[in-house]
Amino acid sequence: MIIARTIKQAGSFLARIRKEKMSVGLVPTMGALHRGHLSLIECCRSENAVTVVSIFVNPTQFNDPKDLKNYPRNLEKDISRLKESGCDMLFVPATRTIYPRPDLRIFDFGGLEHRMEGQFRPGHFNGVAQVVSRLFDIIKPDRAYFGKKDIQQLAIIRKLTAMQNSDVEIRACETLREDDGLAMSSRNVLLSAEQRENAAIINQTLREAVRKRGMTVDELKSWVADVINKNPLFELEYFEIVNSSDLQPVTDWAGGEDELVACIAVRTSQIRLIDNVFFHNFASL
Ligand code: PAJ
Repeated sequence: MIIARTIKQAGSFLARIRKEKMSVGLVPTMGALHRGHLSLIECCRSENAVTVVSIFVNPTQFNDPKDLKNYPRNLEKDISRLKESGCDMLFVPATRTIYPRPDLRIFDFGGLEHRMEGQFRPGHFNGVAQVVSRLFDIIKPDRAYFGKKDIQQLAIIRKLTAMQNSDVEIRACETLREDDGLAMSSRNVLLSAEQRENAAIINQTLREAVRKRGMTVDELKSWVADVINKNPLFELEYFEIVNSSDLQPVTDWAGGEDELVACIAVRTSQIRLIDNVFFHNFASL
């Protein structure tokens, strides 16, 4: 595996690849890799000749400096996992490589950037768009891989590529979970044993919610809020039922349930955990 720290190092490896007309897939990450990341890499390897993984803890997407400071980092372990995963090139740039000067771009995603995650993390998606567009400019991948766990991020990136007339094909991968249903996340290592044990409630509640019948959307929202907030360790930030295509919230079931997704964010001490489930995956079970 090649480790490129500069644009020049990445460029000289990729120039050889392009000369041979091989396809390049990119998996952008912030490191502290877990099996969810590795599943993206697997998916990328199955569809491209060359797999590039980036690790960059992007300061512009952190609205909370404490969150940035506490974000788990473990490059040595990540490198050994990546070597085993079959990644061809790791791109691990310095901040000045991604942002040689302050990135002043403000993206307009038509309001999507201000809802759900955006409401609790102002500026977050603008930072995500900045870093992803930089990574696309530097790596110029044919395809890029993102997890459905961060469904709003996925929607933002799809909009970004549409707005920029980018040729990068955006591929969405399923959420990997721990045995008790908790969505894998780099932040899970920050949970105390007690928080970790109780965190299963998040996915359990979501799965129960999408199976409930006879409740209005508002009643379902209050039910979820009650269940989560009854646990003294957790506080609900939001629970929304949205359309999977545009992530617009729905207020009733009139359009049918097949295209709906239930999205949740829960806080425990300073740690935020998010998850979502598609109605068509669970409602009929
Ligand atoms: P990070 O949180 O490291 O996630 C990198 C990718 O892994 C994202 O596409 C995310 O959706 C996916 N992912 C995370 N947990 C997953 C799981 N349990 N199952 C499947 N995929 C999962 O998301 C980011 O980094 C950053 O915002 C980034 C896109 C790299 C821009 O900085």
